[in-house]
Amino acid sequence: MALRLNSTVVLTSHSFSSKSRSLRSPRVSMASTLHSVSKEAGNVKKSYSPPREVHVQVTHSMSPHKLEIFKSLENWAEDNILVHLKPVEKCWQPQDFLPDPESEGFYDQVRELRARSKELPDDYFVVLVGDMITEEALPTYQTMLNTLDGVRDETGASLTSWAIWTRAWTAEENRHGDLLNKYLYLSGRVDMKQIEKTIQYLIGSGMDPKTENNPYLGFIYTSFQERATFISHGNTARLAKEHGDVKLAQICGTIAADEKRHETAYTKIVEKLFEIDPDGTVMALGDMMKKKISMPAHLMYDGKDDNLFEHFSSVAQRLGVYTAKDYADILEFLVGRWNVEKMTGLSSEGHRAQDFICGLPARIRRLEERAQGRAKELSPVPFSWVFDRSIKI
Ligand SMILES: [Fe+2]
Ligand SMILES: [Fe+2]
Repeated sequence: MALRLNSTVVLTSHSFSSKSRSLRSPRVSMASTLHSVSKEAGNVKKSYSPPREVHVQVTHSMSPHKLEIFKSLENWAEDNILVHLKPVEKCWQPQDFLPDPESEGFYDQVRELRARSKELPDDYFVVLVGDMITEEALPTYQTMLNTLDGVRDETGASLTSWAIWTRAWTAEENRHGDLLNKYLYLSGRVDMKQIEKTIQYLIGSGMDPKTENNPYLGFIYTSFQERATFISHGNTARLAKEHGDVKLAQICGTIAADEKRHETAYTKIVEKLFEIDPDGTVMALGDMMKKKISMPAHLMYDGKDDNLFEHFSSVAQRLGVYTAKDYADILEFLVGRWNVEKMTGLSSEGHRAQDFICGLPARIRRLEERAQGRAKELSPVPFSWVFDRSIKI
């Protein structure tokens, strides 16, 4: 999600600022950089042209000798990371939270679900739909993890700890979109066809996390993201409860708990990288934060609204589901989690990155306060997901 501050400031780099919006076009070109540059720019077929962004693509930025680090961590990952997966037999499944289609009471259960959802306002549904769509673009995230050098699943069924983690993580995550999708379908409150189109566009567009095939950047990104989703699902749970839908609150809360477990695993990987290679890891964190964490669904499009992601993010910000303050809080949490402030013995470049990172949460908050001071009047924007009804953003 972008961090849009009262219609004025956009903190995530790829959240469709007016500049990047003008660049959204099927014509893609990419400049060369110091690192190797991907050749995939080419011609994006005009017949299939979901919106996409244009920027420099840096690839394989981790020096090859660091591949050894990840190889040497194989056993460590088995003992320390795979333990954060839950055995399938102990996992919840979407069906545990949904009307049972083979029971006699199915129609009554659906009626009850729909009655409860009546109390939830349209703006809440816009945010829940956006969160669901983000979860449903899971193929993109598995692809993204498998772009990372040294940890990718080389065969599709590789038995390295890294590959086992990625597949099992994907399998756990797959339940999130599935459950939210079925709940939203049964609620009858949203335009499912528009939502399904948005998912198809989004998976077709991919994502651009700027992780450069580099597992340092990749695992920093996923640490940030898992915490971001933990926070936003937690907030949709809280709001559902406030509106009287305790079952939906339970659904969102259960998903949030998964995200928390995933956050624990990813932050542990980065903690280990800090231990082995403090200089390289602090510079990777500085690099990632300089580029800003673009949210996974930032290329969202519904066939109508060119600024759909920005609009969705604004509603999420206004409802307090995911805000600029959350972005700053996540960074501050990670800085504390990884002890970034207290690191010693860094190179001068590492030290500069450390200073930048540690000062960033306060800078983001100052920006937010300033933006709050310039708060504009809310303007209504139609959302196709709720039958083109207007939502104030
Ligand atoms: Fe998820
Ligand atoms: Fe997650």
